Amino acid sequence: MCGIVGIASNNNCTYALIEGLKKLAYRGYDSAGLATLVNKEIVKRVALGKIGNLEAIIKEKPIEGNIGIAHTRWATHGSPNELNAHPHATNKVAIVHNGIIENYKEIKNILSNKSLIKSETDSEVVAHLITDYLDQGHDYPEIVEKLLTELKGAFALAVLFTKTNKLLAIKRGSPLAVGYGEQNNFIGSDAIGLAPFTKKISYLEDDDWAIVDNKNIFIYHGKNKVDREISITSISRQSIEKGGYKHFMHKEIYEQPTVIGETLKSFIDPEKKIIKINSEILKTDIKKISLIACGTSAFACRIARFWFEEFANIGANVDIASEYRYRKLLKTEGEVVIFISQSGETRDTLASLEEAKKHGLKTISIVNVLDSSISRLSDENIFTLAGPEIGVASTKAFTTQLLTLLIISILLGKNKNFINDNFESKIITQLLDLPSLLNDILEKENELRDIASKIYNAKDVLYIGRGMGHGLALEGALKLKEISYIHAEGYAAGELKHGPIALIDESVPVIGIIPTNNLYEKTYSNLAEVKARGGKIICITDKEGKKNLEDLSDLIFSIKKCNDYLQPIVCALPVQLLAYHIACFKGTDVDQPRNLAKSVTVE
Ligand code: F6R
Repeated sequence: MCGIVGIASNNNCTYALIEGLKKLAYRGYDSAGLATLVNKEIVKRVALGKIGNLEAIIKEKPIEGNIGIAHTRWATHGSPNELNAHPHATNKVAIVHNGIIENYKEIKNILSNKSLIKSETDSEVVAHLITDYLDQGHDYPEIVEKLLTELKGAFALAVLFTKTNKLLAIKRGSPLAVGYGEQNNFIGSDAIGLAPFTKKISYLEDDDWAIVDNKNIFIYHGKNKVDREISITSISRQSIEKGGYKHFMHKEIYEQPTVIGETLKSFIDPEKKIIKINSEILKTDIKKISLIACGTSAFACRIARFWFEEFANIGANVDIASEYRYRKLLKTEGEVVIFISQSGETRDTLASLEEAKKHGLKTISIVNVLDSSISRLSDENIFTLAGPEIGVASTKAFTTQLLTLLIISILLGKNKNFINDNFESKIITQLLDLPSLLNDILEKENELRDIASKIYNAKDVLYIGRGMGHGLALEGALKLKEISYIHAEGYAAGELKHGPIALIDESVPVIGIIPTNNLYEKTYSNLAEVKARGGKIICITDKEGKKNLEDLSDLIFSIKKCNDYLQPIVCALPVQLLAYHIACFKGTDVDQPRNLAKSVTVE
């Protein structure tokens, strides 16, 4: 869950290390640090908090060096403080680590001098272990072999040595890539971290290790040199910059009409009005679908379940990955498990995929990051084309996931003869209207800003909805909690009377997701129950639904009337913008909210 960068160059690499770290800040920002080699000695700088703090320290106390490693931390073992900040160093090596060394306490006991361990981290032992191996006269292959035998858990490591101008990279469980430059080469957690330097990347496989200097990169597996494909990343510098927006989240909300259009283009033949998805598994006789994910991606699954039932008549189970992976998996004939992940690195989702594969289940993953761990393990992949999502709160990844799941459910309905060509073509015509429906909301952003200005002081907020609106209520509450720190809950509107209605008073805004559909009247009644208890009601509805809601609501935002099954995708935007503006009024750090990181590679 941390981000790591390594650079071997023929110039001072300090500021390039900082630049790489800035791109990886979405992976964690509890502390940051770097180490370079100056006159064969390791020189370190670390700072608590964001990378800007490290940059300030380096401006005050500059360091140089043509070779170095850097780290941005999301704390797991040991609180965020300078002592626990990476790199961890001895007089011979410095290391940065992403992952968890599960047996770090046992390792501590085998070190020649455990009293030298200063931090509470699980990582520092690695620096001392390597130092012991060096003292025993071992060189790279034996050092790596011994480390891979000794260390338990997940680790992506970059190691700087005093005795050579070479970096060592080792990967097991956590992602790690190497990047090829001219006169300089790189190590990075992912393509985003390497984007400022190079487009030519090789992803390391588990138990690969690489020796990187400014001229060459050699990759090994065991004692053998191996070739790993060099891919040209499509991530441009521009796509990972704010481009005039104050926050990445705002930029990413605004990108939705475009990325929804791109995703549509990749799955639909607009001339023939047919769906084209390259999947053998989707052609099989699917009898049951399990949808597995975490967080926002799991809320996309909760919404998608309705589409699988509606269009394909297939029962869909939804489970959050951290639960699924520890449950007894009962394999059903004709079952397919679909994993959904923006990053493709979420540890619990990856572990669930491993479990499903172990049980012989057919697996498909819907991921946004090509070449991610989940995409590499899955039997088949379907990619969302949201582009890099940097803001910690997921926005465009969510709506592209929804669209992808919707299209898959229609395709399955067609394969099973529940949907005929005419209906498919009609739905596709409606889908092609999505970018314009989304643009219409962006044009009315000010209305959402006004609503936010009236409720941002609330201590608690409830989101309610029925059916697909329930999934969106859960997502709305999560969005608000994570970026504004306001306590928020999402409920199925019909459940309020079974307990949560006790929370209602005039200080609790209740946000109703209530576009016109077969559940409109029922949701209306639940909002009336809230009104009767003095609650403040804010409705997200459509033009038709608005008329009835005027008397009941304190504030209303309306979308254009659209087909029922498009409503969750369209209503997602007001939900995101509302959370965004509330957070802006509160002055929180929208893109990097406290305690969070974008890619959760720990359990
Ligand atoms: C919330 C958010 C998280 C992620 C979750 C899963 O805004 O972004 O809840 O959805 O951590 O991440 P992925 O989709 O990368 O597996």
